[in-house]
Amino acid sequence: MSYETILVETRGAVTLITLNRPKALNALNSQVCAELVEAFAAFEADDTQGCAVLTGSGDKAFAAGADIKEMAEKPAADFFLGDFFADWQARIVRATRKPWIAAVNGFALGGGCELAMMADFILAADTAKFGQPEIKLGVAPGMGGSQRLTRAVGKAKAMEMCLTGRMMGAEEAERSGLVARIVPLADLVEDAVKTAQTIAGMPRMAAMVNKEMVNIAFETGLEQGLLTERRLFQILTATQDKAEGMAAFVEKRQAVWKGR
Ligand code: HXC
Repeated sequence: MSYETILVETRGAVTLITLNRPKALNALNSQVCAELVEAFAAFEADDTQGCAVLTGSGDKAFAAGADIKEMAEKPAADFFLGDFFADWQARIVRATRKPWIAAVNGFALGGGCELAMMADFILAADTAKFGQPEIKLGVAPGMGGSQRLTRAVGKAKAMEMCLTGRMMGAEEAERSGLVARIVPLADLVEDAVKTAQTIAGMPRMAAMVNKEMVNIAFETGLEQGLLTERRLFQILTATQDKAEGMAAFVEKRQAVWKGR
């Protein structure tokens, strides 16, 4: 599959996807939207791949948002009838059961911040800046910003950011729980790929279940979440990799995973 607005490469068991419209600060137009869906589907379908990293090309931006020039021309009916950006929730967030990381290398604004928050976690360059500035364009977040940012950083900061459009730097983002770790910009992609390789080297079903469990914490009450966790844990005990992992520990040797 050849792409025009993204780059896709594999590094061992890790798929590295790079948003590649640096002159437009990797703004997310409809072509990026479609190509990302394809790239994530290919990653998910490829058994040799265990984790993905999504980053932006250039030093300046992960993505400066949905493409304003494209949106400026579009009538409201097209946003509604086309269910603008609904594809990402259905075909990336829901359909990607393997873990993936957003490596945020600069501006992550509007749809760019929302895309980063769709990842299982965010690694941020020290230069990263997050924001939901849609209000300044007369609109509001439209692909998860008001919901995921609020869950990540709490009402006070999310409300302030959405209402003023102010950006949050990497340190504040880490302090607030939006990002897992800060990495110097020059090391960001290598660090993210290495982290992804660690995850890809884990027993595959356990990685998928761990991801599912943490996500369930955001979608259900505690009692139901705890029950689901117990059941998923119990199901994992039936895997070959559970037998291998525990035997390897007892025998003081490296485990050899089967991914089943
Ligand atoms: C289209 C964009 C863009 C965007 C930047 N560019 N952001 N093009 N859509 N979202 C383009 C600029 O037009 C310019 O191209 C080039 O990228 C460089 O940008 P500059 O503005 O010249 O750079 P700088 O002065 O350094 O400012 C950086 C910036 C600013 C602060 C990030 O570009 C900015 O504010 N961008 C818009 C951020 C934003 O409002 N995002 C939210 C979008 S709404 P030219 O060819 O003109 O030189 C959204 C809705 C999501 O995301 C919900 C969907 C359902």
